[in-house]
Formats: sequence, structure tokens, C-alpha cells
Amino acid sequence: MKIYKVKNYEEMSRKAANIISAQVLLKPDCVLGLATGSTPVGAYKQLIEWHKQGDLDFSQVKTVNLDEYKGLTPDNDQSYRYFMNKNLFSGINIAMENTHVPNGAEADSEAACSAYNAMIRDLGGIDLQLLGIGHDGHIGFNEPDSVFPAETHCVDLTPLTIEANKRFFEKAEDVPRQAYTMGIKNIMLARKILLVVSGADKAEILAKAVEGPITPQVPASVLQLHPDVTLVADEAAMSMMKL
Ligand code: F6R
Repeated sequence: MKIYKVKNYEEMSRKAANIISAQVLLKPDCVLGLATGSTPVGAYKQLIEWHKQGDLDFSQVKTVNLDEYKGLTPDNDQSYRYFMNKNLFSGINIAMENTHVPNGAEADSEAACSAYNAMIRDLGGIDLQLLGIGHDGHIGFNEPDSVFPAETHCVDLTPLTIEANKRFFEKAEDVPRQAYTMGIKNIMLARKILLVVSGADKAEILAKAVEGPITPQVPASVLQLHPDVTLVADEAAMSMMKL
């Protein structure tokens, strides 16, 4: 694992954007795996800025997002599709048909998930997967469990995740209880992984994920088995790591 320890959220965002833009420059028709949540927002802002300056062209890039709430349509301002349009896609020259998010409006979980797996395969897999980490070690919506789930599947969100995500909704009851998420296998098959982490509240779980035993109880710990992971984390997030 390549580790960049940076000062703060701003530096983390810039470094992550640098790594993503290097991928786009080296392979203009690459497949980027993207994430929502608070952590990548600064990196997305930076990518938009570099695009506006004329330094980054997304016209051939394809994207696949990790996850989406089941039951939310793209026009719902809490859907991850809405988030991606607002925080990244509307600011860059990507073709909307090249952007993919699991279809939260599809009530048939099996249909939604198998279509998503087939789409990722048809694109030839993911070149660079961007990941954040949840306080319980989840990546995507792969929550702690006794087994590593494989491909895209429907999950019941844990109380901890519902609690963490309620900040985006008016009240906790509004947070959907299920989501479609890429599985650990989809993520591990990405050719490169970029994990971004910021803040003292992530310090304990980051240390467990990177330095602890590999276990489905800490889903992010599986990344220790991936041959090409880059971690960009700020000092606060790395404060409980041994190195
Ligand atoms: C988002 C996702 C989640 C988040 C994680 C961290 O698409 O898959 O795993 O990356 O919950 O979220 P933040 O960045 O808000 O702390």
C-alpha cells in the first residue's frame, strides 16, 4: 500500500485529485469508480477547477458509482445520482450516458444488481476505484458481516450507517433502509484503488483497516490483499496508525 500522509482535508483533496487526473491523462477513456459522501467532495471540486482551466478532458471517461439508496429516484436530492450530478458531473465535460449509478428506482433487487454487474463487465472493469471508509469499516455499503459479499447486491443498512447518513436528511426516519452496492469482488477487481480518509473520527477504524487483521468484521481490511492501493489520509485520520 502506498501511503500519503497529508496535513488536512484540503491537502488530501488536492492529492486525490492529482491521482485521479493522472489516471485520466494516462488513459483518456478510463473507467473511474466513484464514491459519494463528504470525503471526496473537495477532490471533485478540484477536478472541476482543473477541467475549467483546460487541463482535464473527461469526454471519453466512463464512471461507475459504488452505490445508491434503494427506492430513491435520480431526481430525489438525497439520491447518490443527484449528488454525483451536482458535485462532479455537471462541472465537467463528461457524457451523461457514460456515467453509471445503480438504479435505485428498480424495485427488483436481482434485476438492478445483475444489470450493474453486467455493465461493469461490459466496460472492461474499473481502472481506478475511489473509496471512502465508514466508521464501522464499510466500503461502498458493504457493512461488517461474517462473509465478504461478492458482486453488486442489496443490503440492509446498519443502525450506525443510518445514524451517520441522517445528517443529509431532515430526520433519521427519512433515511432509506436499503441500498444497492457494489460488492467486495467488484471493488477488489479494480486495477487500482484510491482510499481517501480525513478526520480524527476515522482514526481508529483506519488503523484497524490498514494494520489490523483482515476480517469481514472490518470490510476495508480486505484492501490489504489488493496489489495496488494508494491511501491518502490526513494527520488526524492517521493519528492511531503505528507508522
Ligand atoms: C459512498 C460510500 C460510503 C462512504 C463512507 C464514508 O458512496 O460508498 O462507503 O465512502 O460511508 O462516508 P463519508 O465520506 O461521508 O465519511
